[in-house]
Amino acid sequence: MEKFLWGSATASYQCEGAWLQDGKLESMWDHYLHEKQLENGDVASDFYHHYEEDLKMASEGGQNSFRLSLSWPRILDEKGNVNQRGIDFYRRVLTCCHTYGLKPNVTLYHWDLPQYLQAQGGWLNEATCDAYAHYAKVCFEAFGDLVDLWVTFNEPRWFIFNGYLIGNYPPEHHDVDETIKGAFHVMYASSLAIRLFREGGYPGQIGIVHSFTPINGVDDTIATRIAMRYADNYCNNWVLDTAAWGEMPIDMLGKLASEGHDLSFMTPAKLALMKANTVDFLGLNYYARALVKPYTSGETTLIVNNAGKAGKGTSKTILKNWFEQVNDPHTKKTEWDTEIYPQGLYEGILMVWHKYHLPIYITENGVGMYEDVSVPCVEDDYRIDFMQEHIEAMLRAKDEGADVRGYYAWSTFDLYSWKNGCEKRYGLVAIDFKNGLVRKPKASYAWYRQMIENNRKKECK
Ligand code: BG6
Repeated sequence: MEKFLWGSATASYQCEGAWLQDGKLESMWDHYLHEKQLENGDVASDFYHHYEEDLKMASEGGQNSFRLSLSWPRILDEKGNVNQRGIDFYRRVLTCCHTYGLKPNVTLYHWDLPQYLQAQGGWLNEATCDAYAHYAKVCFEAFGDLVDLWVTFNEPRWFIFNGYLIGNYPPEHHDVDETIKGAFHVMYASSLAIRLFREGGYPGQIGIVHSFTPINGVDDTIATRIAMRYADNYCNNWVLDTAAWGEMPIDMLGKLASEGHDLSFMTPAKLALMKANTVDFLGLNYYARALVKPYTSGETTLIVNNAGKAGKGTSKTILKNWFEQVNDPHTKKTEWDTEIYPQGLYEGILMVWHKYHLPIYITENGVGMYEDVSVPCVEDDYRIDFMQEHIEAMLRAKDEGADVRGYYAWSTFDLYSWKNGCEKRYGLVAIDFKNGLVRKPKASYAWYRQMIENNRKKECK
């Protein structure tokens, strides 16, 4: 049996920096953040130049896997031709992973779409799906000898909803029809890549990573159960059902159609292709659950707290005629109003396992905090508590039969946190962004190493 994977995760835009180096083109995030003059990832953690040091540190921290994503605009030019310097960079990184005993877990797309494709309509344009399939094939060919754990997309719901519905990510739209179309195109593109992967006979497995939000209800009434189903369709089922079974939830499609949305672009040929090309495994990123009640009144309201001041710009989710999310006053929240709820991971894993019977990786789990990194060692006891409780919850679900094969802390080191900037820190290793990008392991780094060692001993018994 393969060893359990204990690792940590990153994403290209959030850590690499070198945003215009060695032939890399502009991504939609480069373009958007520059245009709005917002904090950006031009330098970020400068993984591009520090990868050896970072991978060595992950390995010395007892980890045996590393999750990273590839930057599409680093790999292909506007005509779809390969940028050899981009390929060389990732081959160096992947080789280095192997040198340090880290199995690479590679995501093809973690939101950094080439800007020239965004300018042509991005995920609303079907041509982007074909361009993505070409990009995926290039990656399978270029890195297939170094990678056997592939992910088509990181969190389709998160980037599509934030970009097209909530409007806090590029291209900052608020349009339900665009959201439906973009979401469908991403799931279709995922299936195109899976088909190419299987046709090419590349070694390994291919899956998808989902921003997993297990749903709880405020009570056990029928009305609440219906609201929970709507919430589950909105948060989870359209990604997980489609990826695992090749089928979108039919009641969700019925509801969208009854609300007057055009679904005619979901053609029988595309649906058949999706049905035939499903994933080998599911990656779940777990940060929090959603507690829901039936919709009462008011317009759809979707607010995400990107301010980092608890209670200010408070998160709010009301989906008109679907459900409302409620705040549980008894649970702890971060400064970004993210609930801390390990029980959700335990319940969620079992739910996903019983429903889909596919191998599961916890591909991200972590807590974002403000931290003073000028000290020699950040004593992040809150992160240790968070990880301990979540890892215990995961292991309980595993002990009860769920096929969980890996856990990745988010993140390997501090990095750029999208609209929240670099001061929202998740890393096991601190990076002093203002002072030469010096790396310093936090207390959680040593704790994680010990925890991994203890669990390995148990595995061997
Ligand atoms: C996940 C993403 O949604 O959560 C990561 O895959 C992201 O890219 C992480 O950084 C934490 O979210 P945030 O918004 O706090 O950076």
